[in-house]
Amino acid sequence: MASAVIFISAKSMPSRDNMPAKVILGTQWGDEGKGKITDLMADEAEMVVRFQGGNNAGHTIVIGDRTFKLHLVPSGILRKDVVSVVGNGVVLDPAAFLEELDRLSEANVEQGQLKISDRAHVIMPYHRLIDGLEEAAKGKLAAGTTKRGIGPCYSDKTSRFGIRICDLMDPDAFRQKLEAAYPLKAKYIQALGGDIGQSMEKILEEYMALGKRLAPYVCDASVLINDALDHGKNILFEGAQGTHLDIDHGIYPHGTSSSTVTGGVLIGTGVGPKRIDKVVGVVKAYTSRVGTGPFPTELFDDLGNHIADKGGEIGTTTGRRRRVGWLDLVMVGFSVRVNGLDSLVITKADVLDGLDEIKVATHYTLDGQDVHDFPASMTQLARCQPQYHTLPGWPELSKEEWKVIAEKGRDGLPEELAAFVTFIEANLKVPVDVVSYGPGREENIYL
Ligand code: GDP
Ligand code: IMO
Ligand code: MG
Repeated sequence: MASAVIFISAKSMPSRDNMPAKVILGTQWGDEGKGKITDLMADEAEMVVRFQGGNNAGHTIVIGDRTFKLHLVPSGILRKDVVSVVGNGVVLDPAAFLEELDRLSEANVEQGQLKISDRAHVIMPYHRLIDGLEEAAKGKLAAGTTKRGIGPCYSDKTSRFGIRICDLMDPDAFRQKLEAAYPLKAKYIQALGGDIGQSMEKILEEYMALGKRLAPYVCDASVLINDALDHGKNILFEGAQGTHLDIDHGIYPHGTSSSTVTGGVLIGTGVGPKRIDKVVGVVKAYTSRVGTGPFPTELFDDLGNHIADKGGEIGTTTGRRRRVGWLDLVMVGFSVRVNGLDSLVITKADVLDGLDEIKVATHYTLDGQDVHDFPASMTQLARCQPQYHTLPGWPELSKEEWKVIAEKGRDGLPEELAAFVTFIEANLKVPVDVVSYGPGREENIYL
């Protein structure tokens, strides 16, 4: 008699660290390496969920000699056993989304399943137009947006002029909503010196066609996610942007229009607070910023250019050069507090190698007073003088040398890098789990 062989999938076994629901988010101004870290941690996940933002995000994943730049599609997509979910808190540009899917298909990579919340809001052509026109009207207060229509779409959501994914599946509801919004948008655009361009009928036709292509992916994502959690599945909630771009807690008005912090997960996916087991903050070993606004530790000298060049600090979405500066623990400490961070991942440690010394801002001074909490007022922030702790730099290391270090974990770190990590941990009172030393999926040191 043939004996029965039972294959137990690794995915049906309990999580190795017994933390089924993890949040991964940026602690600075975006581009910390969230895409890389989400893809890495998706190895143990069954689901990866985006909870906010839209195609203003640019998340890079490097696997071998292939580079993938994701904007709307969650960073679990390159793992075939992972379900990628676009939550209700995301604003979705259908044409941009479908184009991204086409590019992934052309790349001929194994992909997991994809789902979109029926409650996510839709970026309309007039949102993109208004984004550009409002930026021009704001003058010095312009954030330097990605011009993807993100802010105007969230504005319509809040003022209840929005169109949701479920409306694209329902021609009568869609027409009724567009009939209410379109004339007002046309007038507003005209008042800002623009022209809406397309007729309402043209937009209806275009978006109904896009809706048909999206239909196979649409579901009630909150039901899907909660069901997965009920079954003990591992879920990653992938943040876009960063804590200091958050609409409430970020650099206002120079940030974005969504809730990029842990609280945004609950609103943007429809799960309760007790379902979150761990919150991981991604910290770039220095600071970068694409867009306007005060930046206390910004470097304007050759060293700044060196870090920007070595770090390849060019925006993934807009191709703009990012501003760079030293690591700012006032900023990251703020992120620890508002997100309730349990652990940190430090990225781009390789970019700082070979420097004689490395500075880390521990606090600011303003009008002779020490400041330990990131100020709300942008005029105050602009006057804050960073106060630095200086650490010795670690030597320039080849990829081979980094690999050897990675095999040994914390004990293998060069003493200067170990001191940098320990300083961050002691200052923020949060452990560092991983140090990343390159864009590649496997270029990580587990501490
Ligand atoms: P995200 O928006 O947070 O996902 O980050 P981006 O993808 O916009 O920017 C991070 C950039 O740094 C990408 O080009 C990544 O491939 C790259 N990257 C991530 N981690 C590391 C690292 O540890 N070292 C180096 N040199 N590059 C990294
Ligand atoms: P990821 O997910 C860095 C910035 C823009 C601008 C401000 C508002 O790749 O880290 P928006 O288009 O959102 O209205 O722009 O926010 N910004 C980002 N900066 N990384 C991002 O995303 C960003 N998304 C938006 O540069 O200053
Ligand atoms: Mg990015």
